[in-house]
Amino acid sequence: MERLRVTGGASLRGSVHVAGAKNSSLKLMAATLLSEGRSTLHDVPTITDVDYMGELLRRLGADVVRTNGTVVIDVPDKIAHEAPYELVRRLRASICVLGPLVARCGAADVALPGGDAIGSRGLDMHIAGLERLGAHVEVQHGYVVARAPKGLRGAMIGLDFPSVGATENILMAAVLAEGETVLDNVAREPEIVDICQMLVDMGAKIEGAGTSTLHVQGVERLKPSEHTTVPDRIVAGTWAVAALMTRGDITVANARHTHLELVLEKLMAAGAVVETLAEGGFRVAMSGRPRAIDVVTLPYPGFPTDLQPMVVALNALADGTAMITENVYEARFMFVNELARLGADVRIDGHHAVVRGRESLSGAPVVATDIRAGAGLVLAGLVAEGETLVSAVHHIDRGYPDFVGQLTQLGADVSREPDPDRFED
Ligand code: EPU
Repeated sequence: MERLRVTGGASLRGSVHVAGAKNSSLKLMAATLLSEGRSTLHDVPTITDVDYMGELLRRLGADVVRTNGTVVIDVPDKIAHEAPYELVRRLRASICVLGPLVARCGAADVALPGGDAIGSRGLDMHIAGLERLGAHVEVQHGYVVARAPKGLRGAMIGLDFPSVGATENILMAAVLAEGETVLDNVAREPEIVDICQMLVDMGAKIEGAGTSTLHVQGVERLKPSEHTTVPDRIVAGTWAVAALMTRGDITVANARHTHLELVLEKLMAAGAVVETLAEGGFRVAMSGRPRAIDVVTLPYPGFPTDLQPMVVALNALADGTAMITENVYEARFMFVNELARLGADVRIDGHHAVVRGRESLSGAPVVATDIRAGAGLVLAGLVAEGETLVSAVHHIDRGYPDFVGQLTQLGADVSREPDPDRFED
């Protein structure tokens, strides 16, 4: 186990390059299972979650070779259909092999990932959707066991909530189902558009990507594809908040500002100057103390829940009081107990947090409870007086490629060291 030692005070300045999105890459990797043959994915981030997904695909019979940002996946004609618990527990996103396996093998046994530090994370919509496509699905001995020996049939499916994972799983099953599927109230995240683009390139017939309704005309088989992953809007947003909090000036290259419209608008309301760049990407600069900003998290194009810890950290130092409303995960405010160790004044009432901005925070040892909480705590450490020790840094490694290297490049005083007090959890 390692931790980060963050010394507060630096104003971050310079340029960072954003890699492909974690939450797209993992699904694109799963989607390669839908076709026999060699697929190539570019701009895949160097993060541990991608390692785990590679391991899972190998377990299912694929050959996975990763060279820097490129992953080449060779999928054989016959693949296994069991995603075992020892792999799924390390990577919740493993559940996204469920749809491809049912579609391709007519069977899937995927371990239930369970809850985590941000909430319960149900699978009811994934299961109901596959059932509507004709699969028989049961939960047995901690596994989702799905069977469709005669293949899947297209259906009309409406989601109760625009779940990212359920949209992806049902979509990946529907592309190989017989006939038409209409999938309503789906997620509209840029990562969904990305996977639709790759599936279409593989030969799938999908209309409506980026809207609330997807029309899918099933095809008999798909072919492998070569695809470049959409840039990571959450990593890009993290750098934007870092610029604001440290009163710095950061150019975020390879980011798409159109994927962060609401976020950048909020940061401007807090006082930042945001400039979109002709060559792509954007620049965020800040002088003076940020103003408090209210934020309500919602599915895209609403404010992303994955940037909620960063805006709580920002408001902890802002001028004024902010109300943050979390609508996606019931337990995503848990990390504020750690932020409070740095002196933040946050009061939680159900899914609302009231953050009263303080003039300063003071460094202390804290624990990262998930990827985004970890990033939020590091940002708070960058502006706290003295040293902040962020343990359980393996959470951050799951989603931020070379976080310490990029922070250092921007002038932060951050280093990685063994954590004498903690063991892997
Ligand atoms: N939900 C259900 N039943 C379902 C599906 C979802 O109740 O069948 C609930 C969940 O419990 C949760 C909410 O709906 O409260 C949203 O879940 P969603 O399915 O949209 O999220 P996800 O697919 O599990 C992905 C990202 C998350 C991100 C969310 C929302 C991946 C691997 N994960 O999760 O990313 O927060 O969408 O945008 O794509 C992260 O990167 O740190 C992260 C947590």
